[in-house]
Amino acid sequence: MKKILWLTPVIVAMITVAVATNLPVKTNNQNSPTPQEGLNLDFPEDVMAVLERSCFDCHTNESSNFKGKSKLNFSKWDEYKSSKKIGKLDAICEDVKDGSMPKKKYVKKHPDKSMSHEDIDLICNWAADESKKLMGE
Ligand code: HEC
Repeated sequence: MKKILWLTPVIVAMITVAVATNLPVKTNNQNSPTPQEGLNLDFPEDVMAVLERSCFDCHTNESSNFKGKSKLNFSKWDEYKSSKKIGKLDAICEDVKDGSMPKKKYVKKHPDKSMSHEDIDLICNWAADESKKLMGE
């Protein structure tokens, strides 16, 4: 009887430790896979707003446009190497300037997704600045 009394707090402590170390790990695993809504990119707010409106439908993980997101995926932007980012930035400015992005058919269907001249200038200036920064790295 004495032995059991002595053991009780030890067993309780062991169970507490087991529960305390196991539970948080389990709940973390359940919660972590999709912290995806609202991309956490380090872009200026106004740039982000334009990209979000005119580009994200086809160029993020959430997009159902497989061809679009395989070519350019803003959800994976932070994983791109600097050289890849520079290439994409160049293509982004070129494509919005010549009107090939966002896709013409898409803009016809969703006129609110079109880009103004100001939007295009904003994106191109940002793309140039961002490239310069990356080249300086
Ligand atoms: C309706 C879907 C759609 C929208 C909206 C869209 N794109 Fe695209 N984009 C595509 C597809 C599909 C491709 C793959 C090549 C092609 O079909 O022209 C692509 C390719 C690109 C490429 C070429 C990437 C490479 O390396 O070849 C760039 C850059 C690009 N898009 C930028 C943009 C930008 C910037 C916007 C917003 C201003 C935008 N796209 C909006 C569908 C879209």
